[in-house]
Amino acid sequence: MSFKARPKAVRDAVRFRFRGADVALRQFLPRATVLDWLREDVGAKGTKEGCAEGDCGACTVVLARLKAGRLTHEPFNACILLLGQLDGAELITIEDLVSGGELHPLQQAMVEAHASQCGFCTPGIVMSLFAAYHSERPVTYAGLCDQLAGNLCRCTGYRPIIAAALEACAGEPADRFAATSEERAAALAALADDSDVFVGDEAVFFAAPASLDSLAALYARFPDATLVSGATDVGLWITKQLRDLKRVIWLGRVAGLDAVGESADGAVSLGATLSLEDATPSLGAIHPDLTELLRRFGSKQVRASGTVGGNIANGSPIGDLAPALIALGGRVVLRKGERTRALPLEDFFIAYGKQDRGPGEFVLAVEAPRLAPHQRYCAFKVSKRFDEDISAVMLAVRVDLDGRRVLGARIACGGMAATPKRAENAERALAGANLDQPASWRAARAALSQDFTPLTDMRATAAYRSAVAANILEKALVEVSGAGAPTRIGMLHAAE
Ligand SMILES: Cc1cc2nc3c(=O)[nH]c(=O)nc-3n(C[C@H](O)[C@H](O)[C@H](O)COP(=O)(O)OP(=O)(O)OC[C@H]3O[C@@H](n4cnc5c(N)ncnc54)[C@H](O)[C@@H]3O)c2cc1C
Ligand code: FES
Ligand code: FES
Repeated sequence: MSFKARPKAVRDAVRFRFRGADVALRQFLPRATVLDWLREDVGAKGTKEGCAEGDCGACTVVLARLKAGRLTHEPFNACILLLGQLDGAELITIEDLVSGGELHPLQQAMVEAHASQCGFCTPGIVMSLFAAYHSERPVTYAGLCDQLAGNLCRCTGYRPIIAAALEACAGEPADRFAATSEERAAALAALADDSDVFVGDEAVFFAAPASLDSLAALYARFPDATLVSGATDVGLWITKQLRDLKRVIWLGRVAGLDAVGESADGAVSLGATLSLEDATPSLGAIHPDLTELLRRFGSKQVRASGTVGGNIANGSPIGDLAPALIALGGRVVLRKGERTRALPLEDFFIAYGKQDRGPGEFVLAVEAPRLAPHQRYCAFKVSKRFDEDISAVMLAVRVDLDGRRVLGARIACGGMAATPKRAENAERALAGANLDQPASWRAARAALSQDFTPLTDMRATAAYRSAVAANILEKALVEVSGAGAPTRIGMLHAAE
């Protein structure tokens, strides 16, 4: 099977490191998950299944990967991670932590702090903490709260768990993984190649093209294939909707598709497969509200896997990045075959479940303009919980100023309509307002009700959504005017 007119090497196996050895898998269903493989094929039952939808963290495993030559350790939800996504990584599970009959320092600290009762969550919690153990120092209380946002413990409570982690992570990592980090990095480097991967046949396959040209050619040939980036949405189609995906094209091997760069007009360009975790520094450099937003996007596990492109391409009316980037004046860049086009992000979302993306076309990058000196920006996520929750309402606003006069504004909302959408009436009402005269911006608040007719669902009532969106817009304007200091829930969290 060659992907392109000019054929190059195609590998017929997915390869990864597991328990000190290379594994090559030539036969597996494209929809197979890492959790199913571990529990059913390997018989490694330490990794648990709780929710099977990425929420509880019972299934947390760690993937070690080389990123820019550095060995990284990140937690993933094995229940919604496709087996093929392991290609090129080292898979570490709870069974691997004991060394020479001795518990890992984290496990020992958990025992001593009485940090486990029924124990069901414990393997997942230890694996999330294992990723923190191998992260940069210092490991802080606030950092650990964030690390555990995607791990649900119903019995013990987090106090002794965090106490155990603080104790174990006080010094530099000193386990057998740290002692062998050079050999492990060399083994991963030896796995790396630039082959396209194709496992299966034309009817049922897991493919992982290695270049943009290979991807474009393969997707043009199989436009009905399911593109998978981080699988934090697609994984749930498998575990919850029981969809039997026959043709899967995973984007995670495409060289350069996760690059951060700059567009011709100076906007920050985020490659489609850039993980939400890795996108955070670039977006946070545009405005700190984007750091806060991304910290509250799912959990560490979801952000390690989920991608910028997946969050836009899924067309979700409650996706967090779309309104945040629409307000900035963001663009989406698409590619089909040899042809590339860019369009304003708001124009990509046509109707519920319908985006401006043709057969065989894929998201190449998302561009986020930087703020000019005369522009102000605020983004707010309102959800029932601080951590790991989908927005009931997401509102972002960019205000362009001439001194104290509002020249114009871009206001975008999620959760208020069938698509992420601009509030054009409110934007018009705001133009010409004076920041020193609150009465002049109140019309924008009122105009929001002409822009949106939100729904009532399990996250919020229509009335709540309308009221909260108007309140947030007013809060944003109070902040921009300087009459009130910015306040975000995360500020309290970080101060703990
Ligand atoms: C527990 C949990 C918490 C979550 N919390 C949040 C949250 O707080 N905020 C939020 O917005 N979302 C949240 N999500 C949803 C999801 O994580 C995000 O939408 C994520 O960004 C999807 O990215 P992905 O790479 O995993 O997409 P995938 O699951 O790989 O793909 C999603 C869709 O996009 C398509 N696709 C992917 N990449 C491309 C591409 N390059 N070109 C064309 N099509 C493509 C796929 O075919 C699929 O239709 C959460 C999900 C879970 C499971
Ligand atoms: S089983 Fe709950 S996150 Fe995987
Ligand atoms: S110890 Fe029982 S769920 Fe955490």
